[in-house]
Amino acid sequence: MGARAAVQALAASKIRELYNEGLGRKDILAFWVGEPDEPTPQFIRKAATESIAAGELFYTHNLGIPELREALAAYVSRLHRRTDPGQIAVTSAGVNALMLASQLLVDHSDHVVEVVPLWPNLQEIPKILGARVTTIALDFSTEGWTLDVPKLLAALRPGTRVLYLNSPNNPTGWTISREEQKAILEHCRRHGIWIFADDAYERLYYGPRGVAPSFLDAMQDDDRVISTNTFSKSWLMTGWRLGWLVVPPSIAADLGKLIEYNTSCTPIFVQRAGLAAVTGGEAVISRSLQRFRRARDFLVGELRKLPKVQVALPDGTMYVFLRVEGMSDSLAFCKRMVREHGLGLAPGAAFGPEGEGYLRWCFAAETDRLADGVARLRRALAD
Ligand SMILES: Cc1ncc(COP(=O)(O)O)c(C=O)c1O
Repeated sequence: MGARAAVQALAASKIRELYNEGLGRKDILAFWVGEPDEPTPQFIRKAATESIAAGELFYTHNLGIPELREALAAYVSRLHRRTDPGQIAVTSAGVNALMLASQLLVDHSDHVVEVVPLWPNLQEIPKILGARVTTIALDFSTEGWTLDVPKLLAALRPGTRVLYLNSPNNPTGWTISREEQKAILEHCRRHGIWIFADDAYERLYYGPRGVAPSFLDAMQDDDRVISTNTFSKSWLMTGWRLGWLVVPPSIAADLGKLIEYNTSCTPIFVQRAGLAAVTGGEAVISRSLQRFRRARDFLVGELRKLPKVQVALPDGTMYVFLRVEGMSDSLAFCKRMVREHGLGLAPGAAFGPEGEGYLRWCFAAETDRLADGVARLRRALAD
C-alpha cells in the first residue's frame, strides 16, 4: 500500500530538512527562504478586511472575479502585450498556477525540458504528472550566468511537449534576453512546442524599466505560450497565496474546469486584496526594487572579499547563488553552518544536481543583517 510511484519518487525539500536542523533556536540568521522581509502594506490588508466585513465569503467564478481579471489584463497589457480579461485566470498562489499550467499541458511520459538550476517546485511538478524531464544547465562565470541557446534548442526536439523556463531565475538571478527569447520562440513555433514561462520575478529586475523581458512581449498571437505569475514577491504577499496565469483564449475554458476540480476558486477577500495591489501598488514595487538593489550590491561586494567564494551579480530576483570552492556537499555544509554559526542559507543541491557546489542567499534584508551573515560565512569558511 502506498502513494503512486511518481509521488514516492519526488524529492523531499532539502530546505525543509535544513530548517528542521535549526528548530527551536532563536539565534539563527536565516536567508534561506525566498521571502521579502516586510509585511504586506496596509492598503492591501484593508481591502481584504473590508471584503470580509461586507460578507464576501462565498464561492466566485472559477477564473476569478471580473474586476480582478480586468485589472490584471490591463496590467499585463501595460507591461507587455494587449491581453483580454478572457485570457486571465486567478489562482490560489503562484505555485497553484504552475500546477494548473502543467495539468493543462503535460501527459504521462511527455517530454519536457527545463533550464536549471531551478526552484524545486518547478522541477517536481512535471514529475508528479509522470513527465520525462531533460535539464539544460545555465553556465556560471563571475561575469554572470548564461544560457547556451544552441544546446537548449538541440534538446527541444520535435515531439517535445513543453519548455519550462523561469526568468529572472530562482536561484541564479539569470534573466533571458530578448534575442534569446526570439530564437527560442521561433524554434518552438516550428516544432509545436509549448513555452511555459514562470514570470514570478519579472518586477524584481535591475535592468531597464524594472520589468524583465517576458515571452509575452516577444510572442505572436497564435504562439503556444503560457505565463504564470504571483502576487507574492511584487506586492509582499507571500502568505496570501494569490497568483495568475495568462493563457491563449482557446484554452481558458479548459483551465476553468481544472480550477473547478483543484480549488474551485480563490477566496474572494484575497482577490480583493489582489485588486488593491495591482491597481495601487506600483510604489510598493519601486520601493522594494530600490531596497533590494542596494542589498544586492552590498552583499555581492562583501561576498567578493571572501576567500573561496565566487559570485555573479544577479540581473533579477532577490537571490545570490554563490559558488564555494571545494564544497562538494552543500546540504552538509549548510547544516554545519546552522549548527555551528547560526547562519541559514539554502543548499545549492536543493535546486537540482547542477546546483551542487553553490549556496542560495536571499538578500531581501537590511544591510546590518547581511553584514552579520557575511561575517558568519567567513568564519564557517575558515573552519
Ligand atoms: C520561481 C518561482 N515561481 C513561482 C513561485 C510561486 O510563488 P507563490 O506560490 O508564493 O505564489 C515562486 C516562489 O518562491 C518561485 O520562486
